Amino acid sequence: MTSVSNTLAPFQDLTKPNLSVVVLAAGQGKRMKSALPKVLHPIAGKAMLAHVVDAANQLSPDQVCVIYGHGGEVVRAAFANQSLLWAKQEPQLGTGHAVLQAIPQLAPHGVTLVLYGDVPLIRAATLAKLVAIAKQNTLAWLTMRVKDPKGLGRILRDEGGKVTEIVEDKDATNEQRQIDEINTGFLACPTAWLAKWLPALSNRNAQAEYYLTDILALAVAEGHKVETLSADAEFEIIGVNSKDQLAQLERVYQLENARQLMVQGVSLIDPARIDVRGTLTVGEDVSIDVNCIFEGQIHLAANVKIGANCILQNCTVGSGTEILPFTHIDSATIGCNARIGPYARLRPGTTLADEVHIGNFVEVKASVVGAGSKANHLSYVGDASVGKNVNIGAGTITCNYDGANKHRTVIEDNVHIGSDVQLIAPVTVGKGATIAAGTTVWKDASPGELTMNQKSQTTLPNWTRPSKIK
Ligand code: UD1
Ligand code: CA
Repeated sequence: MTSVSNTLAPFQDLTKPNLSVVVLAAGQGKRMKSALPKVLHPIAGKAMLAHVVDAANQLSPDQVCVIYGHGGEVVRAAFANQSLLWAKQEPQLGTGHAVLQAIPQLAPHGVTLVLYGDVPLIRAATLAKLVAIAKQNTLAWLTMRVKDPKGLGRILRDEGGKVTEIVEDKDATNEQRQIDEINTGFLACPTAWLAKWLPALSNRNAQAEYYLTDILALAVAEGHKVETLSADAEFEIIGVNSKDQLAQLERVYQLENARQLMVQGVSLIDPARIDVRGTLTVGEDVSIDVNCIFEGQIHLAANVKIGANCILQNCTVGSGTEILPFTHIDSATIGCNARIGPYARLRPGTTLADEVHIGNFVEVKASVVGAGSKANHLSYVGDASVGKNVNIGAGTITCNYDGANKHRTVIEDNVHIGSDVQLIAPVTVGKGATIAAGTTVWKDASPGELTMNQKSQTTLPNWTRPSKIK
């Protein structure tokens, strides 16, 4: 290997052909009937354009250039933290004109791959195949035979089966419209070819647009190699133009994701009733009941059971833990063999050790709960440090907020707190202390002792309960 002496020049490994990616995202998406640009609408909680950019990035491209249009500043802003190139297309004169806008920003050597911001489920594996073909000095084009080719560009072939050109639906003869092999739009070829062909396109066609598809006939005329390839799954090439299509593709994505989970050994009671908007990783023998939503980064260790109608966001659940129905967990870490819910709410900053039980209508926030501790009914545990083997009785509240600041409650190991106790933070309940039911703890409670408020109980003789006036 020779060393590079000029440190000012950008590093270019000339042993490897440059890969450029162009993503078309200039279309307004009028049929979405939305102020949000079409490519920012989400599939599985992630903008369609982000799916496409992520697929592109799996190929480690040297540059990704997004073509944006009217209202596209919002799109740029949404991707401000990514190293993307941007090219504005205004006015929008067709797909060929769109790709042309990127050319000045692309490395002149190597190959370019063309993607679409509104075709979000294209697989990196399919794109890699296109790029590999293009690297053999070939125009690689992704086509597909479909049941309903209406409205799409058709692939024309000669008697020998060799592809000759693409004709748009609006320009096609009735005979050509019978062809069921369609243009998906995805292609890859040497960048230099695009730089030569795109400025030479004409817009003499039914839509008076500069068609990207016309470069195929140019390649054939110049005697270049042209190869077509088909995607493995039809969902890879489906574009979104309406809310209805967005919802349909969401279901396709979710079902596909559910299948992947089952391949990994997850038991899903109904694969049609799970939504993963992020990344769900699992250990062995995890089971998930219906209507659960997983958002962000979630890990479920071996033998975790998730009941119906749970929402889990950014959390880790230890092995053998059971999450009972209607539980909502956001940014929490849960140990092994714990039991959470039904109807529990774990809020950000919650860390539960092994064998903790959090029961119905219990809310835990910014708290650490030690092994074997239990809060089984109707409690609020906020900004608290709870030790091991603590029992928190029904209706116990950590009064953490004085109207201006939050304060911490410390409950040491082996504490037993009776029902309906208020802990006025900042306060500490010492190790092994017992707090009587109905106590308001406003001073530290001594370890090992019973703490209670002085209260009296009176019975009024001869008292009668009011009755309804007739
Ligand atoms: C295009 C193809 C057609 C193919 C179909 C697949 C052409 C001429 N036709 O048709 O063969 O079967 O896609 O869906 O390429 N865009 C821009 N700027 C423009 C025009 C379009 O960025 O000036 C973007 C759109 O936002 C969209 C994509 O390019 O993401 C395709 O544009 P669209 O108008 O939907 O193309 P079709 O006419 O459907
Ligand atoms: Ca279209």
